[in-house]
Amino acid sequence: MVGADRVGPEDWRAALAAVPVGSTPLVRLTRLVPEGAGEVWLKLESGNPTGSYKDRLALAIIGGALERGDVAPGDRLVEYTGGSTGTALAHVAAKVGLHFTAVSSDAFAPVKLRSMAAYGAEVIIEPSHGEGITPELIARVRDRAYALATEPGSWYADQFGNADIRPGYAPMGTEIAEALDGRLDVLCAGVGTGGALMGAVDGLESEGCRPDVVALEPTESPLLTTGTGGSHRVEGIAVGFVPPFLDRDRVPEVRTVDQSDALAMCRRLAAEEGLLCGPSTGLNVVAAIRLAVERGEGSVVATFGVDAGAKYLDGDLFA
Ligand SMILES: Cc1ncc(COP(=O)(O)O)c(C=O)c1O
Repeated sequence: MVGADRVGPEDWRAALAAVPVGSTPLVRLTRLVPEGAGEVWLKLESGNPTGSYKDRLALAIIGGALERGDVAPGDRLVEYTGGSTGTALAHVAAKVGLHFTAVSSDAFAPVKLRSMAAYGAEVIIEPSHGEGITPELIARVRDRAYALATEPGSWYADQFGNADIRPGYAPMGTEIAEALDGRLDVLCAGVGTGGALMGAVDGLESEGCRPDVVALEPTESPLLTTGTGGSHRVEGIAVGFVPPFLDRDRVPEVRTVDQSDALAMCRRLAAEEGLLCGPSTGLNVVAAIRLAVERGEGSVVATFGVDAGAKYLDGDLFA
């Protein structure tokens, strides 16, 4: 980490401005979309520095906190996280001389825990005792983070409620609107917090583009569609509670996608489109293609390529 005593406002502003986040490509899927269907476009976020759209969130959270003086270089940022968000926060924290403590668990993928540590984060592990990701574990991890965040010089990043998140994702929407010249009928995406989807909607609307918006969840955890969640394998979405940022007035429609279809789509995206993506992106693409088939020729559907598939190579996704 940069020596905190040497990091003044000009330094951290320059460091944040130099982080190459955003301006990601919007690619059209050509091989997987059946004849007679509309266009399907994927906002490929894997090109961000830590390989996911969470880099936009990290820049927004940390930039906002520094500008307001909620934190200063040398202070500690605390969050509970299993992976992508923590890696993105660890990366930006290192750039601006903040310490970052991630409270996590051995229930999450080791590669994600290692990447947070590689960026200099302190990673505190709450043991899962072989029980997997349970509500009890999540509550324990969360309470540990809350307790650490009350210590002097510490600040809770609050990925589930921070008001800087939605505006941080807005450029994802403006970039899509610009790339498509405003021609967008439907935006669909799986939701964890709902921050990425709602922020992108804000950005699209700021460009005068008002598509129908469809939120997605795995059929195995149909909390939004039936009121009851469940266990599933699509990391990052359907986290067991109503997504705090999801505005159901703007997004009245929620659809489910079977996780087996999502995982199969990851394999097809890699083999047929040359795009190595993770499960939540597979789920997004399944729904986007279905919507493009329903809407028919001439329609335009977009969704998010959330992260790079490389971090899922250790599991059985591509085996
Ligand atoms: C891999 C992955 N996909 C999708 C999401 C959902 O994003 P959001 O929380 O902005 O709804 C997340 C969030 O953690 C994620 O890590």
